[in-house]
Amino acid sequence: MTTDKIVEYRHAGAKHLKELLEKNSKELPRDQRFLLTREEINRIRSELDKLKRGDSSKFIVAVHKDDGVIGFCNFDVSRWSPKEATIESIEVVPKHRQNSVGSSLLEEVERAVARDNIETLHVVTLEKNAEWYRKRGFEPTYTSKSFRKMQKRVDR
Ligand SMILES: CC(C)(COP(=O)(O)OP(=O)(O)OC[C@H]1O[C@@H](n2cnc3c(N)ncnc32)[C@H](O)[C@@H]1OP(=O)(O)O)[C@@H](O)C(=O)NCCC(=O)NCCS
Repeated sequence: MTTDKIVEYRHAGAKHLKELLEKNSKELPRDQRFLLTREEINRIRSELDKLKRGDSSKFIVAVHKDDGVIGFCNFDVSRWSPKEATIESIEVVPKHRQNSVGSSLLEEVERAVARDNIETLHVVTLEKNAEWYRKRGFEPTYTSKSFRKMQKRVDR
């Protein structure tokens, strides 16, 4: 866990995941809410079930001292190759973007997977987000019209 004065980065507990789901609400101002897809909601629900069974969380959250959960990044370890993991989602609420929260979440995921002896981190991203990952050390492995597969070797 990394701590600074304002934002803490940590493995999500059940209360953080529930807060994530609550902050998907249309009642909240646009700049303070997440825009979760159906797939992401299902992943969060399934993670809540895994936490009940005592599994360790594959969600890293950014927790702001006043605003609570303001960002998350989750990853999954390959069933076929335990040295490889994939980033499934990353999102920061609009109010807190451009403040390195996304970069710090990614770094925390890299530290978490390194502790699990994972060597390669993959991501499948829309073309419009590929540059963000490239600046953070990911290289393209496959490019289609609409998405890119990228990967990064994890430092230990
Ligand atoms: C992508 C995202 C997580 C970045 O979070 P963040 O906290 O703003 O990220 P950081 O502050 O660490 O980095 C911001 C930098 O990335 C750049 N950036 C932000 N979104 C970008 C994008 N889609 N493509 C390229 N660069 C982007 C900013 O211009 C800024 O650049 P700078 O450091 O040179 O000024 C955030 O914009 C977000 O939640 N987007 C919507 C969800 C999304 O698209 N997620 C999918 C990624 S697969």
